[in-house]
Amino acid sequence: MKRAFVVGYPISHSRSPLIHSFWLAEAGIDGSYERVAVEPAAFPEFVRTLEQQGFVGGNVTVPHKEEAFRLALVDDPVARDLHAVNTLWLEGDVLKGANTDVMGFLANLDQEAKGWDGRLDRVVVLGAGGASRAVLYGLLQRGAAEILLANRTFERAQALAHHFGPRVKPLAWETAEAAMVGADLLVNTTSLGMKGQPPLDLSLSGLPRTALVTDIVYVPLETPLLAKARALGLRTVDGLGMLLHQAVPGFERWFGVKPLVSSQLRALILADIEKQGT
Ligand code: ATR
Repeated sequence: MKRAFVVGYPISHSRSPLIHSFWLAEAGIDGSYERVAVEPAAFPEFVRTLEQQGFVGGNVTVPHKEEAFRLALVDDPVARDLHAVNTLWLEGDVLKGANTDVMGFLANLDQEAKGWDGRLDRVVVLGAGGASRAVLYGLLQRGAAEILLANRTFERAQALAHHFGPRVKPLAWETAEAAMVGADLLVNTTSLGMKGQPPLDLSLSGLPRTALVTDIVYVPLETPLLAKARALGLRTVDGLGMLLHQAVPGFERWFGVKPLVSSQLRALILADIEKQGT
């Protein structure tokens, strides 16, 4: 039996076991995917002894992604840019690492809004944390000509713009609404709108009717931002698909089958969100 894991601290909230268990059952694979809580001080020892523990690989989440980047052999250019690894696997006795967040963000839009990257003359991205960095990387890869990056703490937007170069322009948070005029795409990467957080309270009236709005928050599935966009008749894509798609490459590496992000899988995770209430 092949065993994979998700490691974090804490880890009880992770929905990854639900996703991978669904795929294991669907493919009829004799395997397992387990939550493992490991304190930061014990993480290097945990990854050094994966093979002895009987693991073929696994996912890494908060707070270990940067340490996993340092400990694994990383060929993946995304992980190298983000300095963070969320997927580990053994090749022989070599521990390899990659980051699948960019791929998850892009694959979600590819599946839910076909042709979304046909025209990306102007994109507005809200937020400048770790998630924003992955989103910017993906948008630049798909040819976005100009990305206007608004963040409450302007210096963080400036730092990301500096990292990615002249196509990314930092904005003061107060100018985000004005920046939406003529934008093809609006992406929220802040935690605003997440259950327990204040809503993202911006007017979307500057967005063209053809604009697409997406949120990386997925609890609730329809955030106040997406509800507002939908009421204006704009196309929207929720954030759940990013979570599901970023899981695909790991499963394929550990278990040898490329799984599908299906409506049945979405329904399973949605039912869990409803049950847990968060
Ligand atoms: P992640 O890695 O998930 O992106 P993060 O690095 O903590 O998490 O970033 C959270 C983002 O949400 C940041 O852009 C943060 O803005 P700051 O850089 O100013 O902290 C944004 N954010 C969180 N709460 C916010 C609020 N009340 N208003 C505006 N932005 C907020």
